[in-house]
Amino acid sequence: MAQASFKFRPATLAANDDSWFVEAWDSTLPYLASIGSTSQWRYIPSQLPGAVDKVKKLIADSDISAAKYPVSSPDILKNGQPPLDWTKAYVASVEISKEDVPNALRDKYLSTEGDTVTIPVGAMVLQATSPQYTRTVIPEQDEREPFVYLVFLMTDHRAGGLAKGSGSALLTIAKQEVTKLGLARLCGDCWRGNGRKLVGYYDGQGLKAIGDFDVPKSEDEVWEGAVTEWRAA
Ligand SMILES: CC(C)(COP(=O)(O)OP(=O)(O)OC[C@H]1O[C@@H](n2cnc3c(N)ncnc32)[C@H](O)[C@@H]1OP(=O)(O)O)[C@@H](O)C(=O)NCCC(=O)NCCS
Repeated sequence: MAQASFKFRPATLAANDDSWFVEAWDSTLPYLASIGSTSQWRYIPSQLPGAVDKVKKLIADSDISAAKYPVSSPDILKNGQPPLDWTKAYVASVEISKEDVPNALRDKYLSTEGDTVTIPVGAMVLQATSPQYTRTVIPEQDEREPFVYLVFLMTDHRAGGLAKGSGSALLTIAKQEVTKLGLARLCGDCWRGNGRKLVGYYDGQGLKAIGDFDVPKSEDEVWEGAVTEWRAA
């Protein structure tokens, strides 16, 4: 089976993308355990009300932003910066023949009509502000060098090989979004534990580490993060 090409669309509550986001997020945990990265996310998103609410809010805010800022262009900038309530959640999907639906997703998709099915395989959320926990490295927004911030990126590991590359493809969309806004900077953050493997993934995607930060989790535990940055040539 040839790798299907990815299609991209905004994530919306109307399409129940919040439920799929949480299922896909759960699906990353066995993979993280398999590479020794259990400490990246020490919870099961579907069983954590805060995570489920967070996903719902990310997509609800994206719906509101899509109505308010339907076109990404320099016209929506305020003093050269993206408006602080601008955000965009994306889903990457593939259209495949029903016989190619991976076993882990058969129950979900085989009852639909037709010979082909479109299944979501990757997700991304962009915002106009950096999260509070990165504040030692990056301001909320930067009037001299404004940025778009990547707050969420994952692939649905139930989709197996169909999802591989969708994260990278979404990062290309993120860079295009930066350019459409007339900006030149994409920032994000990730876990830097387990020998900075994930930092290395982002580096390979052109998002270079610009500073480390620690988020205290308990008296003797911190979540080790790194802020990353891509700049348009
Ligand atoms: C990171 C991610 C979005 C990249 O998607 P992609 O561009 O389609 O690339 P792939 O999924 O094929 O992963 C490519 C490589 O990145 C590395 N990688 C991916 N996630 C990683 C992680 N959490 N930690 C360390 N390395 C990771 C691996 O080397 C992987 O190769 P492998 O699949 O042979 O192990 C996706 O792998 C993913 O969802 N990972 C788990 C969740 C995650 O860490 N999200 C990012 C949060 S900041």
